[in-house]
Amino acid sequence: MTAPAPIRHYLQFSDFTADEYAYLLERAALIKRKFKAYEKHHTLTDRTLALIFEKASTRTRVSFEAGMYQLGGSVVHLTSGDSQLGRSEPVEDTARVISRMVDAVMIRTFEQERLQRFAAHSRVPVINGLTNEYHPCQILADIFTYTEHRGSICGKTVAWIGDGNNMANTWAQAAALLGFELRVSTPRGYEVDTALAALDGGGKGWQNFADPRQACAGADLVTTDVWTSMGYEAENEARRKAVANWRVDESLMRMAKPDALFMHCLPAHRGEEVTAEVIDGPQSVVWDEAENRMHVQKALLEYLLLGRQ
Ligand code: CP
Ligand code: NVA
Repeated sequence: MTAPAPIRHYLQFSDFTADEYAYLLERAALIKRKFKAYEKHHTLTDRTLALIFEKASTRTRVSFEAGMYQLGGSVVHLTSGDSQLGRSEPVEDTARVISRMVDAVMIRTFEQERLQRFAAHSRVPVINGLTNEYHPCQILADIFTYTEHRGSICGKTVAWIGDGNNMANTWAQAAALLGFELRVSTPRGYEVDTALAALDGGGKGWQNFADPRQACAGADLVTTDVWTSMGYEAENEARRKAVANWRVDESLMRMAKPDALFMHCLPAHRGEEVTAEVIDGPQSVVWDEAENRMHVQKALLEYLLLGRQ
């Protein structure tokens, strides 16, 4: 008898290799083509995905829920407010119970450590749907989107402007793994955490720039995110003051290559981290980014449950 394959989780971007990402990007392209042609792609018939949200969501919920149904499966949706998680049931017990009834679990929560505790007690693959530290599904969608528009991201330059948050940490991991340069410009006090951003603690693949204009100079892609992430609302006023000069506007975009793309994971605040002219302008691919969440996550779910197809 052969031993069962060990469970794979997707808790941070560095959980997969560059070769696995190459496969996932190719598979997501196929899945997207079939979706656009109204062709059935029922590779997860009768499988169930649990979606646990301890923070708000629009894109993550709809993309996983619609995606799972399109794969022939179904979903169960829970929040802290309507489950025993909100009444202090230990996350370990929740993991033991839920993972006996479903085939995979996606969680959006606060500390990465909470997600890791869930995964350590789960019998099925666990996916990070955003934590304070990381947002790997979004970066997977962003890299897929870049590839669709401009080809491989390897060797390209990405400028991150604004808060050194979960998105920035995940971009930094991706840069080291997939061989592109990440230039980060954040205000003092909101820097990317080197330990979180590195694959091996070395911080390879990304560089800090005090001046956002320098970070954007010659970039192939300029990207930003909200100044105040979910869970940090108490810091909102201080953050607005600190980050005010890190707004992506047309003058900053002019520093980048003429064909540079603009990305934002959304939700966006026009007039804060990005101007309406940029996010609604010709270089912006934010709607493709949002749609592509669904296609890449379908590839991810298939891969975690079935392996390479
Ligand atoms: N980008 C993203 O994760 O969006 P939601 O918060 O709406 O899920
Ligand atoms: N950095 C943001 C991303 C939202 C999708 C947050 O964590 O709130």
